[in-house]
Amino acid sequence: MVPRSVRITGWGHYAPERVLTNADLEKLVDTSDEWIRSRTGIRERRVAAHHETTATLAAIAGKRAIAVAGLDPQEIDLILVGTLTPDYWMPSTAALVKEAIGNTRAAAFDVMAACSGFVFAYATADAYIRSGMYRHVLVIGAELLTRFLDFSDRNTCILFGDGAGAVVVSASDEEGGGLAGMEMTTDPDGAYMIWLPSGGSKSPPSAETVRRGEHFVRMEGKETYRYATKTLATSALAAISRAGWDPSEVDLFIPHQANIRIIESVAKGLDLPMDKMFVNVDRYGNTSAASVGIALAEAVDFGRVKVGDKIVFVAFGAGFTSGAAAVEWTADPAHGRRAESVQPVASVRAPVDWDSVDPMPARLTAVLEDRQGPQVPLDDVVPGEPEHAPREVPA
Ligand code: UT7
Repeated sequence: MVPRSVRITGWGHYAPERVLTNADLEKLVDTSDEWIRSRTGIRERRVAAHHETTATLAAIAGKRAIAVAGLDPQEIDLILVGTLTPDYWMPSTAALVKEAIGNTRAAAFDVMAACSGFVFAYATADAYIRSGMYRHVLVIGAELLTRFLDFSDRNTCILFGDGAGAVVVSASDEEGGGLAGMEMTTDPDGAYMIWLPSGGSKSPPSAETVRRGEHFVRMEGKETYRYATKTLATSALAAISRAGWDPSEVDLFIPHQANIRIIESVAKGLDLPMDKMFVNVDRYGNTSAASVGIALAEAVDFGRVKVGDKIVFVAFGAGFTSGAAAVEWTADPAHGRRAESVQPVASVRAPVDWDSVDPMPARLTAVLEDRQGPQVPLDDVVPGEPEHAPREVPA
């Protein structure tokens, strides 16, 4: 049955506990906390533990979003995972997530659009539901980038971090709300501006490709920066105009968290104050496809979004891809509390007769284990974090 509207009914995120600070990176490469903060706005990022994989991060965020939506995992019809760091080339990470969340009936596949993966997957979910094919779609952006970084390359290793963000997108019999305007673009001129050279069919992995470090992310930072500042504003404007809105009407922008200077330049380009841009790049760095999902979940849980608000997700990434969605928010933000019932654990069945190597990069392990004193624990104690808004506990 074709629904009257398609709405976000659940949201959630998960960030691994372990924090990698700029001071830690100073021990690995020729960089400084001052350089990283002033050029990117990043103060720290999260690093997944040995036992975690992209699928386990995704499953925890997904279970939280399902709890917030008030659904049973079996009610999910389709699972989409945006990621550029899958557990394996096959099966899809979405297939592993399906088992980990306890769902036996959904279809599941990955969406490969780099940092735009969450926004592209959200648009895909909306289209499937609008067609009448599915009622509840779980959309997850999840990345474990620290396993694809060269921790001797200061151009890339300071930027990225691990995490996952998720939403449940549902058919509604009520009129209005939800996705009002969408824009997705792909510009192959930028295909080799951010890329991972080897491991695919063009350059299968070999001792030689590994020796050359071609299994790590490479990036032309300046070109990417130029593209990002232009395209984020253009994509956001296209989605806003398809929704029939004026940029000044937008209550909150949830941009891809790559660099605070990129976000500031988009705000300037759209003639908007920075308090309309949600920012958490300081605490997570660039989590690629997870970034918009994590930022959305935090924005709602921090009381920055209320029913009836006009919000815009906007992302860009390798490809070059770009996506923006203009969304009228409909869900009660207080439902976010329901995620507290979901413990930060998920398990994915191990392959039979196969032992993987230790997945942690050796240089990273050495620097993390060398630190004095206890680890800084979870989100609540990160300095400068906005106050959580007071909320009613939902029935
Ligand atoms: O999701 C999409 C992923 N990618 C992005 O969004 C990246 C977009 N690009 C950027 O965010 C910025 O271009 C960077 C943060 C990567 C670099 O900032 P920048 O202001 O463009 O710096 P730059 O590349 O122009 O480098 C300036 C200087 C250079 O030294 P010289 O040639 O002026 O002596 C670099 O070698 O800074 C040097 N540098 C560093 N110094 C300390 C580059 N990386 C570092 C570093 N620490 N980590």
